[in-house]
Amino acid sequence: MSQPTLKAPKGTRDLFGAEADSFHELEETARRVFKLFHFSEVRTPLFEPVELFSRSLGETSDVVEKEMFTFSDRGERVYALRPEGTAGVVRYFVENELAKKGGIHRLFYMGPMFRGERPQAGRYRQFWQIGSEFFGPSDAVADADTVLMVSMVLKKFGLTNFSVQVNSIGCKKCRADYRPELLKYLKSREGDLSEESRRRMNVNPLRVLDSKADGPKLKDAPLMKDFLCVECKAHHTLFLDLLSTSQSIKIEENPRLVRGLDYYSRSVFEWVSPDLGAQSALAAGGRYDDLVEQLGGPATPAVGFALGVDRVVAARKSGSPEGKTSSSKTAMVIPLDDKAVVPAFQQSQKMREAGLAVPTLNPGKKLKNQLSQAVDIGANWAILIGEDELKTDQVTVKDLATRDQKRVPSSDLLKHING
Ligand code: HAM
Repeated sequence: MSQPTLKAPKGTRDLFGAEADSFHELEETARRVFKLFHFSEVRTPLFEPVELFSRSLGETSDVVEKEMFTFSDRGERVYALRPEGTAGVVRYFVENELAKKGGIHRLFYMGPMFRGERPQAGRYRQFWQIGSEFFGPSDAVADADTVLMVSMVLKKFGLTNFSVQVNSIGCKKCRADYRPELLKYLKSREGDLSEESRRRMNVNPLRVLDSKADGPKLKDAPLMKDFLCVECKAHHTLFLDLLSTSQSIKIEENPRLVRGLDYYSRSVFEWVSPDLGAQSALAAGGRYDDLVEQLGGPATPAVGFALGVDRVVAARKSGSPEGKTSSSKTAMVIPLDDKAVVPAFQQSQKMREAGLAVPTLNPGKKLKNQLSQAVDIGANWAILIGEDELKTDQVTVKDLATRDQKRVPSSDLLKHING
């Protein structure tokens, strides 16, 4: 009997070669930028008790209602693979009583997240996030710095075509004034709404605005920005003023932006790219001043974000067809006969030590094949070493872009190609 074919689970994929390199490059870029802003790394478990997520993301969020991968631990406790990073980092903050240490805590994380969503381009069941959580400050400077920090990561990685949508969804106090007004409006439109929205509107009417099916139908809904309390309004005005000082980031106010997770208050933001299809959100985040307390810690304001690594990498690829995948230059060293193998081997190592990528020699293969292989892997140069070169202690350098070739003394090779 034939065995069923083994395949990666639906909505997951293997990362390999140029794509894996780009993931790595983005992670390194983010690490460098996080350092500039004094953030430190935290690694939390890939799974947590399911109630951590239901208590933080909200019982009525899509993620909690239908997208978590849960399992029981030998029948004792129910766990879920983490669908996002914030809940785990807040749990870490509360469990370790970091608030007692006082002041400000700036944390970042990176790793895979899991959501049982219907897979499509840019939407996976296992996807990667890079994010930060900034505990302590309640003022809008922290919100604005988060927006600048993420934009800096995207730019340094090579993305230019994106904008940041921003909004304020107020605090518990002003949302309490907005909610009945929104509910009154939704009730007047009840006949147009899906069953899910009709059910949700009494529990969490804001989420109805976020509904993919019904959101676009509700163009004349009352807006949160008209209900902000004095403090929230001042917070939002300062946030916008701070962002307007940065000429190089495209900021767009979107008064209809609400987030799919329940823990947010005041500032919310989302980075969108026209280079992606329907799943255009590269990153998203916002302030969540009540979550630490909600999870058993002392009241601690906080703000954070997460970017979707899969999507940021895809946006760079579609935005720049050459896809800057490899950051280091590559050379292929080709020994032209058996006697050249040892010197070519030595030469390869010397070049690697100088920071060039040099794949392992392929002795015995025809020159023509080796040259076309060098082109296939995107090498910048082929370094040819044969009898003549050995006699004169030279190498032949072939520039694979221009096809020019030149003999240079072995000792000048690095100078020549770096020059
Ligand atoms: P989120 O909007 O659910 O926020 O996810 C952030 C980003 O993760 C999205 O903008 C998207 O780029 C990526 N993403 C989400 N789901 C998928 C998926 N199924 N496939 C591929 N990429 C995906 C959060 O997760 C919050 N924890 C962000 C945050 C941190 N807020 C405060 N602190």
